[in-house]
Amino acid sequence: MELIALVLFVIHIVAFIAGGANSVVMPIIGSRMATATPDARAALMSVAETLAKVGKYAMITLIVTGLLVLWLKWNWVVPNLWFWVKMAGIVAMLVFISLNEMNAKKAHAGDMAAAANSKRFGQLTALAFAVVIASAVFAFN
Ligand code: HEM
Repeated sequence: MELIALVLFVIHIVAFIAGGANSVVMPIIGSRMATATPDARAALMSVAETLAKVGKYAMITLIVTGLLVLWLKWNWVVPNLWFWVKMAGIVAMLVFISLNEMNAKKAHAGDMAAAANSKRFGQLTALAFAVVIASAVFAFN
Protein backbone atom coordinates (compact mmCIF):
# COMPACT_ATOMS: atom_id res chain seq x y z
CA MET A 1 0.00 0.00 0.00
CA GLU A 2 2.87 2.31 0.91
CA LEU A 3 4.47 1.79 -2.51
CA ILE A 4 1.19 2.37 -4.37
CA ALA A 5 0.71 5.63 -2.45
CA LEU A 6 4.20 6.79 -3.44
CA VAL A 7 3.69 5.86 -7.10
CA LEU A 8 0.43 7.82 -7.04
CA PHE A 9 2.29 10.75 -5.51
CA VAL A 10 4.86 10.58 -8.34
CA ILE A 11 1.95 10.72 -10.81
CA HIS A 12 0.60 13.70 -8.81
CA ILE A 13 3.91 15.51 -9.35
CA VAL A 14 4.15 14.58 -13.05
CA ALA A 15 0.61 15.90 -13.66
CA PHE A 16 1.56 19.00 -11.69
CA ILE A 17 4.47 19.62 -14.11
CA ALA A 18 2.38 18.87 -17.22
CA GLY A 19 -0.43 21.20 -16.16
CA GLY A 20 1.78 23.84 -14.58
CA ALA A 21 3.75 24.21 -17.81
CA ASN A 22 0.72 26.06 -19.17
CA SER A 23 1.25 28.95 -16.78
CA VAL A 24 4.67 29.53 -18.38
CA VAL A 25 3.98 28.61 -22.02
CA MET A 26 0.50 30.09 -22.55
CA PRO A 27 1.55 33.71 -21.93
CA ILE A 28 4.43 33.25 -24.40
CA ILE A 29 2.08 31.89 -27.05
CA GLY A 30 -0.46 34.61 -26.29
CA SER A 31 2.14 37.36 -26.66
CA ARG A 32 3.13 36.05 -30.12
CA MET A 33 -0.49 35.81 -31.25
CA ALA A 34 -1.09 39.56 -31.69
CA THR A 35 1.67 40.12 -34.25
CA ALA A 36 1.52 36.72 -35.99
CA THR A 37 0.57 36.25 -39.63
CA PRO A 38 -2.77 34.44 -40.14
CA ASP A 39 -0.97 31.16 -40.84
CA ALA A 40 1.29 31.45 -37.81
CA ARG A 41 -1.69 32.47 -35.71
CA ALA A 42 -3.57 29.31 -36.72
CA ALA A 43 -0.52 27.22 -35.79
CA LEU A 44 -0.17 28.99 -32.42
CA MET A 45 -3.89 28.55 -31.79
CA SER A 46 -3.72 24.81 -32.44
CA VAL A 47 -0.77 24.47 -30.03
CA ALA A 48 -2.65 26.50 -27.39
CA GLU A 49 -5.72 24.29 -27.77
CA THR A 50 -3.66 21.12 -27.37
CA LEU A 51 -1.95 22.55 -24.28
CA ALA A 52 -5.35 23.47 -22.83
CA LYS A 53 -6.48 19.88 -23.35
CA VAL A 54 -3.32 18.52 -21.68
CA GLY A 55 -3.93 20.96 -18.83
CA LYS A 56 -7.46 19.67 -18.35
CA TYR A 57 -6.33 16.03 -18.18
CA ALA A 58 -3.55 17.09 -15.79
CA MET A 59 -6.10 18.81 -13.53
CA ILE A 60 -8.33 15.71 -13.47
CA THR A 61 -5.28 13.52 -12.75
CA LEU A 62 -4.20 15.86 -9.91
CA ILE A 63 -7.60 15.67 -8.25
CA VAL A 64 -7.88 11.88 -8.58
CA THR A 65 -4.31 11.10 -7.45
CA GLY A 66 -4.54 13.79 -4.74
CA LEU A 67 -7.62 12.14 -3.24
CA LEU A 68 -5.98 8.70 -3.47
CA VAL A 69 -2.75 9.90 -1.81
CA LEU A 70 -4.76 11.59 0.94
CA TRP A 71 -6.48 8.25 1.51
CA LEU A 72 -3.62 5.75 1.08
CA LYS A 73 -0.72 7.78 2.50
CA TRP A 74 -2.47 10.07 4.99
CA ASN A 75 -5.54 7.97 5.82
CA TRP A 76 -7.84 11.00 5.31
CA VAL A 77 -6.09 12.88 8.12
CA VAL A 78 -6.04 16.54 7.10
CA PRO A 79 -2.69 17.80 8.43
CA ASN A 80 -3.55 21.47 9.04
CA LEU A 81 -5.40 24.55 7.77
CA TRP A 82 -3.03 24.88 4.79
CA PHE A 83 -4.74 21.86 3.29
CA TRP A 84 -8.02 23.82 3.14
CA VAL A 85 -6.21 26.81 1.65
CA LYS A 86 -5.01 24.43 -1.05
CA MET A 87 -8.54 23.09 -1.65
CA ALA A 88 -9.86 26.67 -1.90
CA GLY A 89 -7.10 27.44 -4.41
CA ILE A 90 -8.10 24.42 -6.47
CA VAL A 91 -11.76 25.53 -6.48
CA ALA A 92 -10.63 29.02 -7.59
CA MET A 93 -8.56 27.44 -10.39
CA LEU A 94 -11.57 25.41 -11.58
CA VAL A 95 -13.74 28.56 -11.60
CA PHE A 96 -11.17 30.58 -13.59
CA ILE A 97 -10.53 27.70 -16.02
CA SER A 98 -14.30 27.40 -16.70
CA LEU A 99 -14.67 31.17 -17.13
CA ASN A 100 -11.68 31.18 -19.48
CA GLU A 101 -13.23 28.39 -21.51
CA MET A 102 -16.60 30.15 -21.88
CA ASN A 103 -14.68 33.29 -22.75
CA ALA A 104 -12.60 31.46 -25.39
CA LYS A 105 -15.81 30.35 -27.12
CA LYS A 106 -16.92 33.99 -27.36
CA ALA A 107 -13.46 35.01 -28.62
CA HIS A 108 -13.68 32.30 -31.28
CA ALA A 109 -16.98 33.80 -32.42
CA GLY A 110 -15.16 37.09 -33.01
CA ASP A 111 -15.82 38.94 -29.74
CA MET A 112 -12.73 41.19 -29.39
CA ALA A 113 -13.45 42.11 -25.76
CA ALA A 114 -13.50 38.40 -24.93
CA ALA A 115 -10.14 37.93 -26.66
CA ALA A 116 -8.66 40.62 -24.39
CA ASN A 117 -10.21 39.02 -21.27
CA SER A 118 -8.44 35.75 -22.01
CA LYS A 119 -5.19 37.17 -20.66
CA ARG A 120 -6.84 38.22 -17.38
CA PHE A 121 -8.40 34.77 -16.81
CA GLY A 122 -5.04 33.15 -17.50
CA GLN A 123 -3.38 35.43 -14.93
CA LEU A 124 -6.06 34.68 -12.33
CA THR A 125 -5.66 30.94 -12.92
CA ALA A 126 -1.88 31.28 -12.53
CA LEU A 127 -2.36 33.23 -9.29
CA ALA A 128 -4.67 30.56 -7.86
CA PHE A 129 -2.16 27.93 -9.03
CA ALA A 130 0.62 29.71 -7.10
CA VAL A 131 -1.57 29.64 -3.96
CA VAL A 132 -2.13 25.89 -4.47
CA ILE A 133 1.61 25.17 -4.83
CA ALA A 134 2.60 27.23 -1.78
CA SER A 135 -0.15 25.83 0.44
CA ALA A 136 0.62 22.25 -0.73
CA VAL A 137 4.20 22.65 0.45
CA PHE A 138 3.12 24.15 3.82
CA ALA A 139 0.41 21.50 4.28
CA PHE A 140 2.58 18.43 3.69
CA ASN A 141 6.05 19.39 4.86
C1 HEM B 1 -4.34 21.79 -9.04
C2 HEM B 1 -4.32 20.74 -8.28
C3 HEM B 1 -3.16 20.34 -7.42
C4 HEM B 1 -1.85 20.76 -7.41
C5 HEM B 1 -1.19 21.79 -8.31
C6 HEM B 1 -1.17 20.03 -6.36
C7 HEM B 1 0.17 20.18 -6.04
C8 HEM B 1 0.83 19.48 -5.09
C9 HEM B 1 2.24 19.60 -4.74
C10 HEM B 1 3.20 20.60 -5.36
C11 HEM B 1 2.51 18.71 -3.75
C12 HEM B 1 3.86 18.48 -3.09
C13 HEM B 1 3.91 19.16 -1.76
C14 HEM B 1 4.96 18.59 -0.88
O1 HEM B 1 5.02 17.37 -0.70
O2 HEM B 1 5.71 19.37 -0.29
C15 HEM B 1 1.29 18.03 -3.45
C16 HEM B 1 1.16 17.06 -2.48
C17 HEM B 1 -0.04 16.48 -2.10
N1 HEM B 1 -1.30 16.71 -2.65
FE1 HEM B 1 -1.69 17.92 -4.23
N2 HEM B 1 -2.08 19.18 -5.75
C18 HEM B 1 -3.30 19.35 -6.36
C19 HEM B 1 -4.48 18.73 -6.02
C20 HEM B 1 -4.67 17.91 -4.93
C21 HEM B 1 -5.93 17.40 -4.44
C22 HEM B 1 -7.29 17.69 -5.06
C23 HEM B 1 -5.67 16.65 -3.32
C24 HEM B 1 -6.58 15.90 -2.40
C25 HEM B 1 -7.83 16.10 -2.22
C26 HEM B 1 -4.25 16.65 -3.13
C27 HEM B 1 -3.58 15.98 -2.15
C28 HEM B 1 -2.23 15.98 -1.95
C29 HEM B 1 -1.55 15.22 -0.91
C30 HEM B 1 -2.21 14.28 0.09
C31 HEM B 1 -0.18 15.54 -1.01
C32 HEM B 1 0.94 15.09 -0.05
C33 HEM B 1 1.71 13.96 -0.50
C34 HEM B 1 2.79 13.73 0.50
O3 HEM B 1 3.69 14.56 0.67
O4 HEM B 1 2.71 12.71 1.17
N3 HEM B 1 -3.66 17.44 -4.11
N4 HEM B 1 0.28 18.49 -4.28
